[in-house]
Amino acid sequence: MDDPDLPQDQHDHALRGLTTIHRFSGLVNRFWKALLPILEKTRQASSARLSVADVGCGDGYLLRQLSAKATAEGFDVQWIGYDFSATACKLAANKADAAGANIRFHQVDILEAELPEEVDVILNSLFLHHFETADVETILKRFRDATTQAFIVEDLRRTVLGYCLAWSCGRLLTRSPIVHYDGVVSVEGAFSIDEMQEILASANIHNTDICKRWPERFVLTYRH
Ligand SMILES: C[S@@+](CC[C@H](N)C(=O)[O-])C[C@H]1O[C@@H](n2cnc3c(N)ncnc32)[C@H](O)[C@@H]1O
Repeated sequence: MDDPDLPQDQHDHALRGLTTIHRFSGLVNRFWKALLPILEKTRQASSARLSVADVGCGDGYLLRQLSAKATAEGFDVQWIGYDFSATACKLAANKADAAGANIRFHQVDILEAELPEEVDVILNSLFLHHFETADVETILKRFRDATTQAFIVEDLRRTVLGYCLAWSCGRLLTRSPIVHYDGVVSVEGAFSIDEMQEILASANIHNTDICKRWPERFVLTYRH
């Protein structure tokens, strides 16, 4: 899916397949559960508007869902999506407009430069497994340095069960050949919790919490 030469229809199909997998895995509720205490604390402490960015946002599904939940609960949030793919940013902006969600999208390569603005919270889903260890360190340091409150990361764990789930659920839930291929390759490129802890220690990032989550994933939370 990261191939810049991927035809747009195949890219769209793969992102739709990913959304189906998100629905099946309960991704949005996990991010909402992690974000809600921060939203509540900010509302009690000040009238300031919380800013939340999703890095590697794809078609913006997570942001759209969270924005709808936050609006329903009366939270005023500035939502921002970053992705290095122009196709993903364009699709995400169109989908947000169609859903009436107020979300800004920007084309940004997280490895090329610091994020363009400081935000309160960074969200990041199914992303780190694309990168080598040294790049993951750089990315996590950038997340820490670009936030005032927290970053929340969900990613795959490299396990045999994770590989079997990626192979079978990928085929059950979507017909996108890109998702079928990416699913198993992603598990192969993913980190174990021990490896992620080593990366955090080497990056000198403390105040973190990592928990295992269904299906063969981890959620990493960092708080300032
Ligand atoms: C597997 S998709 C996950 C999309 C979304 N987070 C989700 O969970 O549905 C990974 C996304 O990261 C983007 N991406 C990959 N490398 C990137 C980079 N260096 N900087 C910004 N975005 C990147 C890709 O374009 C793609 O949209």
